[in-house]
Amino acid sequence: MLIAHISDLHCGPELEENALKTAIEEINRLTPDVVIVTGDLTENGYLSEFKLVKRFLEKLHCDTIIVGTGNHDYKHTGYLLCQRFFPRPEITEIGEIVVIYLSSARPDRDEGEVGLRQLLWLENILQQRYKNFFKLIAMHHHLIPVPDTGIERNTVNDAGDVLKTLTSQSVNLVLCGHKHRPWMWNLENLKIIHAGSLSSKRLRGFFKNSYNIIQISGASVNVKFKVVDGPELDVNKIYKPYMEI
Ligand SMILES: [Fe+2]
Repeated sequence: MLIAHISDLHCGPELEENALKTAIEEINRLTPDVVIVTGDLTENGYLSEFKLVKRFLEKLHCDTIIVGTGNHDYKHTGYLLCQRFFPRPEITEIGEIVVIYLSSARPDRDEGEVGLRQLLWLENILQQRYKNFFKLIAMHHHLIPVPDTGIERNTVNDAGDVLKTLTSQSVNLVLCGHKHRPWMWNLENLKIIHAGSLSSKRLRGFFKNSYNIIQISGASVNVKFKVVDGPELDVNKIYKPYMEI
């Protein structure tokens, strides 16, 4: 299964519109089985920004698009607009793969939280229905700090509890965003893949707008970090093009 993982579009005053248009064209050429969006669709959670991002995402040609939200989408009471513009099932089954989007954003807060009730629900559902599935969890906030992003303030508040649930339930893959910095951690048998920002002007250091291309075959996961209008990079080559600037 081929996944295009995009995040942190930030439609609003800091949108890099050309990057978003180019990325959509690239992803359409890729013909992924599923597109997963890990939040921060908008900059401020405003109605006009939700309308704008909806217009862009409608240009994606893919039968399965899972659109999650992030802390920026919850600003200014934007959380009321999230379900209206992007209603999504909590659970999506694609063959032997189950994708569950956890809500980690809370109104008017930058930091994230999964919460005990959501965690207990997740544990239950994974045990009862998805023991033999490839288990993919998507969320906006990162669970583990990401290098080169300064002082750590915004991992989910209950990251320890979330990681314990994910590892004890043999979750295979977590996709997240928020830090505008692509990266990957391996924790026991769990891969945690972070996406960069697809189309925000707010980037870090040398890093450019990017997204992830993820191929799942059986239990194996292969990831490429794709620079918008640029190269596909392995995780160990991630710094290479930036050092050449
Ligand atoms: Fe965010």
